[in-house]
Amino acid sequence: MATIAYVNGSFVPIRDAEVPIEDRGYQFADGIYEVCLYVRGRYLDLDGHLDRMERSLRELRIDAPMSRNALRVVMGQLVRRNRFKTALVYIQATRGVAPRNHAFPPAQTPPSLVMTTKPFDLDASDAIAAKGVGVITHPDIRWGRVDIKTVSLLPNVLAKQAAKEANAAEALLVRDGVVTEGSSSNAWIVDREGALITHPKGRQILGGITRETALACAADLQITVHERPFTVAEAKSAAEAFITSATNLVTPVVAIDGEAISAGAPGPVALRLREAYKLRAAGVTNRAP
Ligand code: PDD
Repeated sequence: MATIAYVNGSFVPIRDAEVPIEDRGYQFADGIYEVCLYVRGRYLDLDGHLDRMERSLRELRIDAPMSRNALRVVMGQLVRRNRFKTALVYIQATRGVAPRNHAFPPAQTPPSLVMTTKPFDLDASDAIAAKGVGVITHPDIRWGRVDIKTVSLLPNVLAKQAAKEANAAEALLVRDGVVTEGSSSNAWIVDREGALITHPKGRQILGGITRETALACAADLQITVHERPFTVAEAKSAAEAFITSATNLVTPVVAIDGEAISAGAPGPVALRLREAYKLRAAGVTNRAP
């Protein structure tokens, strides 16, 4: 069955899904996005993703394309129409279509909204997590508001490609010796006392929704957390490292720049958190409307 996409009010086969060339997302990357994981009838952390989407829109002064409830209805219909049991759903909203001009278009210009989905193999993801992944470090050359989930992702694209060319799963972005986050994930280490360390929220990282749930899991498991910057050297000599995102859940990192982390195998803290994350995310998520 062809994948069905949602484009500005209609569900259409993906091959027929089009946006006008003067969409500001296309011309200026003037838009925001979300990626949500849907697992057997539930979106994981749906409210968190919708809260962040609303925040991103507010920060860029883009009107909400539809109400939150309407958005939930469309998201529910999209996965049902595609008959995927487990899927990633991509939502993108832009400032709409207007003749090219850097300043905002007239106030009445409606924002654009598109959604696509693709199947997600949770078993394959579990198998990857069981082995752990290698990552590289890469300069963080992004702008000063990476806390907004904009579609303007060129530095992230270049970093991810560098990782791919090094046979690594992710690039940890480094600014002034500090690991800010991954190119599409948040970065964590575990110190020798078993405490978690992750960069604090603020304008230098995207506040991951998976990160928030992982923090809640750590609290449940009575694991100490230090939200503070950490260096590449600290990461390479850490007891464990891992990344979090909607697409990775909690995935252990076993090597950085080809150097093994501890024994070069997934650590117990990361694996416990992954299990706790899956349970908690399923429990706190909302049934698709
Ligand atoms: N990216 N940091 C960056 C730069 C990201 O792009 C992402 C997610 C995260 C983790 O956020 P969350 O836990 O809410 O998924 C952190 C998505 C998955 C993507 O771009 O595909």
